[in-house]
Amino acid sequence: MPTYESMPFHLLTERLVLRPWDEADAAEFSALLSERGKGTPTVEHIRTSITELLTATEKTGIALLPIQRRDEGDFIGYCGLIIGRSTLEEPEIAYELFQRVHGRGYATEAAAAVLEAAAATGRTRLWSTVGTWNTPSLRVLEKLGFERDRVSTEDSGEVAWLTRSLP
Ligand SMILES: CC(C)(COP(=O)(O)OP(=O)(O)OC[C@H]1O[C@@H](n2cnc3c(N)ncnc32)[C@H](O)[C@@H]1OP(=O)(O)O)[C@@H](O)C(=O)NCCC(=O)NCCS
Repeated sequence: MPTYESMPFHLLTERLVLRPWDEADAAEFSALLSERGKGTPTVEHIRTSITELLTATEKTGIALLPIQRRDEGDFIGYCGLIIGRSTLEEPEIAYELFQRVHGRGYATEAAAAVLEAAAATGRTRLWSTVGTWNTPSLRVLEKLGFERDRVSTEDSGEVAWLTRSLP
């Protein structure tokens, strides 16, 4: 595999800042994951997850980053790059935001900054895998210029694979 620069871990947009994880994010991160409707992870469990994310980033140079609103200063979700179902060379973009802030263009704004950060590492292609039912997420990807490559079937249902080349 070619070597890539580490992605920048501080990204600034018009309304948002993406920055590294802090232990103080644990309670909000737990609240975010509880919106998946499968229970609330303990803060202890979340602290372990944050440590695992940081360890993975040390190894890979790519990261999921907390998203904070610049005006309000609140944690509203995360966005970044993961290996996911793809590879370190062509990673996946991922995002998840609190329901209370959906529909205001925040995911698109954060993801656009992550695309730029991915390009800065020297990578030339990104992927995203999304449940075919997930209209909002597919719309975000469409707005970012991703194109559908294929659909696979998993136990959990149909998964759309989308890709975007980077300048
Ligand atoms: C996917 C997600 C991050 C989008 O965040 P967001 O900040 O609301 O996204 P944006 O506001 O940037 O864009 C959402 C777009 O979807 C559209 N949309 C939302 N719900 C929709 C629906 N039911 N049908 C059609 N379009 C819909 C919005 O209108 C908007 O498009 P527009 O700008 O053309 O109007 C958010 O819904 C989320 O966190 N979902 C749960 C986690 C998740 O599914 N993550 C992705 C896993 S692949």
